[in-house]
Amino acid sequence: MKLQIVKYGDPILTKRAEPVTEFDEKLKELVENMFETMYEAPGVGLAAPQVGVSKRLFVMDCSKDKSRQFAFINPVILTTEGKQKGDEGCLSFPGIYFGVERAERLVVRAQDVEGKTFELDLVELEARCVAHETDHLDGELFISKVGPLKREMVMGKIRKLVKSGKW
Ligand code: NI
Repeated sequence: MKLQIVKYGDPILTKRAEPVTEFDEKLKELVENMFETMYEAPGVGLAAPQVGVSKRLFVMDCSKDKSRQFAFINPVILTTEGKQKGDEGCLSFPGIYFGVERAERLVVRAQDVEGKTFELDLVELEARCVAHETDHLDGELFISKVGPLKREMVMGKIRKLVKSGKW
């Protein structure tokens, strides 16, 4: 089932999400629905607060053939290394893209839908995506990663869209 993606302005996006404690059928269904919603958007990552659920989980697939599907539950970034610069988007900011600096590589520990702990060592787009989505779980959005001038430009664009009823 496709879920509704909330846009910037919704207070759930700036709230710290709660840990997942129940690894039940409801969680599996949420993860499945989040994958469907992300693919249809389309996007490469989607965090639970973006579908109105203030829980610490996100889904990701940066491949082009659905070969790198991951659900990260209660993720923790253990180490980061290097820097990468590149344009970033967010499904809660439709049509908005700008350059954000992130770690080039990171190691993340999380649980899968069964509650089993795993660790992944990721680079490039997957590292960028994990950083972006983990930020969502802390109520932090990618506009906080740029300077005030750039942020004001983005906010101006959003205000215009809100005014014209397109947000
Ligand atoms: Ni996002």
